Amino acid sequence: MARTRTTKKLAQRIDLNYFKRTTALKRAKFFLSVGVPALALVWIGWHGLAKDPRVYSSGRMSEAHAVLEAECAACHVQTAGAFSAAASETACLSCHDGPMHHASSKSSPACATCHQEHRGRVNMIAARNQSCSECHGDLRASGGAGRFEKHIYSLQEGHPEFAAVRAGVSDPGAIKMNHAIHLKMIRRGPNGPNVQLECGNCHRPAGVDADVTYGDAKYRAAAVSYKESDELLEEDTQTLRPPNASSGRELMTPVKFANACAGCHLLTFDERFDEGVPHDKPEVVHAFLVKKFSEYIAAHPGELQEAREPERDLTGKPLQPVARVYRRDEWVSARIRDAEELLWRKTCKQCHAMASAAGQNNLPVVAPARTTIKWMPHAKFDHDGHRGFSCVSCHEKALNSTQASDVLLPGIASCKGCHAPGPDHAESRCFECHTYHDWAKRKEVRPTFTLPALRTGGQ
Ligand code: HEC
Ligand code: HEC
Ligand code: HEC
Ligand code: HEC
Ligand code: HEC
Ligand code: HEC
Ligand code: HEC
Ligand code: HEC
Ligand code: HEC
Ligand code: HEC
Repeated sequence: MARTRTTKKLAQRIDLNYFKRTTALKRAKFFLSVGVPALALVWIGWHGLAKDPRVYSSGRMSEAHAVLEAECAACHVQTAGAFSAAASETACLSCHDGPMHHASSKSSPACATCHQEHRGRVNMIAARNQSCSECHGDLRASGGAGRFEKHIYSLQEGHPEFAAVRAGVSDPGAIKMNHAIHLKMIRRGPNGPNVQLECGNCHRPAGVDADVTYGDAKYRAAAVSYKESDELLEEDTQTLRPPNASSGRELMTPVKFANACAGCHLLTFDERFDEGVPHDKPEVVHAFLVKKFSEYIAAHPGELQEAREPERDLTGKPLQPVARVYRRDEWVSARIRDAEELLWRKTCKQCHAMASAAGQNNLPVVAPARTTIKWMPHAKFDHDGHRGFSCVSCHEKALNSTQASDVLLPGIASCKGCHAPGPDHAESRCFECHTYHDWAKRKEVRPTFTLPALRTGGQ
């Protein structure tokens, strides 16, 4: 017999009380809707009783602020018992200053736009590019023409070529130098033939002892009458100072004659002497020559007599030979004249521009060296951070440069090879290469905050 399926019969098969029975699924739902909040309340209550406010926090503190993990009020100033979700700028400033960027900037963004908190144990200084391009994407400086590129979004987008290596820029330094000659094999060195110089024979960071393979102990020990600061080009003062003291290893110090040249370029002046003249201003050199030749002739008076070619009479017959006898001062002047002719016209001139007869006693003047200390004053660069890379990987222009006026520095393209977005590259956000705050304007703050562990005498 065929089964009849009526709607009524079907309806009778449905349990009308199904919702009154508990099932595994329902128990789980109940637990989730009531049990979990209850547990959370217990957890919050537990931490509340333990006076641990981290439970309200939206994430762990940065590395530098890790000690403030439980100290919400240090940054979130509580007004009338209420907790403010915005960190107060005055709170930040009560522990450390964050001096402004540029007086010409119209406004200063709040600290937290760049220094984000509650993102875990991260480097708080790692500001996003957007924090900078907010202004630098369309830079408007108040008070006249901006000095800088106006549309910078990232190192890859809009960042200009560095000013020092733009077309038409030359090295203002006055010491003559031909890198190409010195970096090829040199046939005669001070200690034998075939010398291959390296960059480090002449260049070194300030904090590192000089390589003196081609130096000379006598010149290194000598005091000079010119001041070190005289050699240097005045620094651009309109730049931002980094927050930390320099390690002394960031930049290369100016090259010194005594350390790097004296071993090969001798300042000898007369065959009677092995030594050379002092490496100093012409007046000092002149005084040295006067002293040396005066002492010499006092010790060797025989040299005052100079046998001259005998003169002849009208018939061509030789007359009695006459020995001319010089006065001492005549002799000394003549020797100095010869020595200075050689020095000013040849020896010193090989490395220096000499303005003739402009100084004391009609002596020439050595052109100021005008050595640049910091080529990229608006950025920070640290040779020490790149010491694993060969010098020519950035300064390949040095190998072929024949003029001191050539600029041998790397352009932005060489930085971009390593500093690029992504995990396989070195950091490429602005903060890596630039200072933001003008730390020269830093105000010292008197700290008022005490950690609770110290407040209660330490637990
Ligand atoms: C060193 C200062 C500092 C301390 C200490 C601190 N905060 Fe914050 N907090 C901030 C800053 C800055 C922000 C703004 C968010 C941002 O942009 O990074 C913030 C934002 C917040 C927010 C808003 C949500 C968000 O992420 O924007 C909450 C909630 C919060 N903090 C809770 C806490 C709690 C709870 C504590 C204590 C356990 C605490 N904070 C301790 C600096 C601090
Ligand atoms: C209770 C004191 C205190 C408060 C409040 C405070 N900081 Fe700090 N901050 C410190 C200490 C301590 C350090 C670590 C020492 C240092 O670098 O000066 C630090 C370091 C920093 C650093 C450098 C991080 C690094 O890796 O070197 C930044 C950036 C910073 N704080 C920003 C802020 C901002 C923004 C605020 C406000 C939201 C703030 N701080 C509030 C005490 C405080
Ligand atoms: C536009 C982004 C920006 C803003 C806004 C900003 N900072 Fe910074 N801050 C930086 C960058 C980038 C650095 C790292 C370079 C430097 O020191 O200038 C830094 C460094 C710091 C340091 C670390 C100095 C050290 O010893 O290494 C402190 C502290 C600091 N800022 C505090 C503040 C405070 C406080 C404020 C708010 C008054 C603030 N910053 C606003 C970008 C910013
Ligand atoms: C509130 C706007 C503003 C923000 C944000 C800002 N800048 Fe600037 N920046 C300026 C102004 C204005 C100048 C000066 C222009 C002038 O004098 O011609 C300037 C100049 C500079 C210069 C060149 C001069 C110098 O000081 O060496 C650099 C580099 C620089 N900013 C880097 C940064 C970096 C990196 C950030 C982000 C961490 C940043 N700026 C964020 C407004 C801003
Ligand atoms: C024999 C010594 C000597 C050697 C070796 C030498 N330099 Fe120099 N270098 C100098 C002198 C002197 C100056 C300053 C005169 C000038 O500006 O050219 C200078 C200047 C520089 C400058 C800055 C000036 C500019 O115009 O860019 C750079 C960069 C430089 N050298 C890189 C190098 C590199 C890289 C090497 C090795 C491949 C090297 N030098 C090898 C003596 C030397
Ligand atoms: C290893 C030996 C050696 C050292 C060290 C050395 N030079 Fe030379 N220099 C030479 C030789 C060799 C020549 C080519 C022959 C010559 O004219 O004396 C030369 C030539 C020069 C010239 C003429 C270049 C030209 O275009 O004709 C200058 C300028 C010069 N050197 C400067 C310096 C300076 C500055 C230093 C120290 C920073 C220095 N040299 C260190 C060996 C050296
Ligand atoms: C081989 C190259 C070389 C020769 C040759 C040389 N100098 Fe120099 N001179 C230098 C270098 C490099 C400096 C940079 C600073 C230092 O060594 O103290 C310098 C600096 C100077 C200064 C300081 C310039 C300033 O800006 O204040 C004077 C003065 C000077 N030399 C004089 C002389 C005289 C005089 C002679 C010849 C007797 C001479 N030099 C020969 C390489 C040379
Ligand atoms: C890899 C290092 C590096 C990074 C990353 C970098 N810069 Fe630069 N920036 C430099 C150097 C180097 C200079 C040349 C400084 C000089 O000429 O004194 C420079 C120059 C500048 C100048 C002056 C430009 C001019 O017209 O002369 C500004 C403004 C500037 N940078 C802003 C930024 C901003 C904004 C960012 C991030 C979007 C950024 N930089 C990222 C290295 C860097
Ligand atoms: C990663 C690239 C890089 C490498 C590698 C590098 N330099 Fe530099 N060098 C630079 C930059 C950028 C500057 C400009 C820094 C400034 O003055 O602002 C510079 C500047 C210099 C100067 C001019 C003086 C100064 O410090 O400003 C000399 C000299 C110099 N470098 C020599 C060397 C020597 C020698 C080596 C190898 C030991 C070397 N560099 C390795 C990038 C590099
Ligand atoms: C061969 C790869 C390479 C090249 C080319 C290079 N960098 Fe770097 N740079 C690095 C690495 C890797 C680091 C990280 C080093 C460290 O951990 O301090 C770094 C770090 C830096 C830092 C931070 C240094 C510190 O110790 O605080 C600055 C600023 C910087 N580079 C600027 C530049 C500039 C400007 C150029 C171009 C003239 C450049 N770099 C070219 C690889 C490179």
